[in-house]
Amino acid sequence: MGDGQERVIGWGVVATGNIAHSVTGDLTLLENARLAAVSSRDKERARSFADEFGMQNAYDSVEALVKDDAVDVVYVASPHPQHAYAVRLALDAGKAVLCEKAFTHSLKETETLVAHARESGVFCMEAMWTRFNPLIIRARRMVAQGVLGEVRSVTAELGFAAPVDPVHRLWNPALGGGALLDVGIYPVSFAQMLLGMPSQVGAVGTLTELGVDAEAGLMLSWPGGQRAHLEATLTAPIAGGASIVGTLGRIEFSPRFHHPVRMVHVDAPERGVERVEVFEDTPEGRGYVPMLRAVAQAVREGRTQCPEMPLSDTVDAMRVLDDALNQLGVEYPEPAPPGR
Ligand SMILES: NC(=O)c1ccc[n+]([C@@H]2O[C@H](COP(=O)([O-])OP(=O)(O)OC[C@H]3O[C@@H](n4cnc5c(N)ncnc54)[C@H](OP(=O)(O)O)[C@@H]3O)[C@@H](O)[C@H]2O)c1
Repeated sequence: MGDGQERVIGWGVVATGNIAHSVTGDLTLLENARLAAVSSRDKERARSFADEFGMQNAYDSVEALVKDDAVDVVYVASPHPQHAYAVRLALDAGKAVLCEKAFTHSLKETETLVAHARESGVFCMEAMWTRFNPLIIRARRMVAQGVLGEVRSVTAELGFAAPVDPVHRLWNPALGGGALLDVGIYPVSFAQMLLGMPSQVGAVGTLTELGVDAEAGLMLSWPGGQRAHLEATLTAPIAGGASIVGTLGRIEFSPRFHHPVRMVHVDAPERGVERVEVFEDTPEGRGYVPMLRAVAQAVREGRTQCPEMPLSDTVDAMRVLDDALNQLGVEYPEPAPPGR
């Protein structure tokens, strides 16, 4: 890859917020990529974003963006309840889709959208960038090779202390607020990646006055007795580490585990005998480049999914989140019409 011979892929970006800036910044580092267009609810915001990244076209609607012939992949970076609207338009226009996490704000919406993506026969993926991190890929390979023996438990935590602001998307129910959908998706997807769909989900947490989860602890279990202890919070500066513990050893990811730069493998085949290996990685850009590269390559090859992050994993992770949200009593309103 990166030899300049491959088909150039055109990218269109939906929304101009925080993550749209970060990921578009990484798109500028991707080989054989054309930053084609952006859409915003506000034309001037779109124009200024386009100018910042040297994009030719700026639109005030997703409808216009998906009609742009220069766009091959639509990257959706609006709040979670607003994803489905843009994803559907892009798929119907035959454009590949990379959609931010959480894929939607509900299991029902996720299942409907995934079914639509499958029927469309167009590439579609949740932007779970963790799965493309070189250290996560290495750990996954080590687990598959049996280096840790049988995996018995997983721990993962993520979050931060977010200033309370009922209007901001992190807290606002209408914008999919709450810890589980914003940060909890990472630990849940991590556990699902390693152990598959759990048979039991237990959740405890604290709700805000507006009824979204400010923090939550999850205990998942599998029929073979495997467990995952997961944490998500918007109220405290949690470290953000993770571990995979098997019968022959363990892997520990230094915080923050969702884009690790350091991982430690402790090989402990018998009591008192330990060998420690340390792996480090320097991120490309802000860490999104490997995911963007994988998406571009899948689109070039005419594939509809990436094996690292299939749509079935998106549905399974959302199933766990939905169960936990139901236990906590979180209910989201129907998304407002676009542009509100
Ligand atoms: N992968 C990661 O590392 C990562 C990090 C942060 C967030 N995310 C995900 O990315 C998505 C966006 O998060 P963010 O932090 O970028 O949020 P943000 O800063 O609030 O930006 C969201 C953008 O979405 C657009 N938008 C469309 N409909 C909207 C509505 N009804 N209300 C508000 N904004 C609306 C707005 O752009 P216009 O005004 O231009 O339309 C807004 O700037 C979320 O799903 C989040 O989970 C991922």
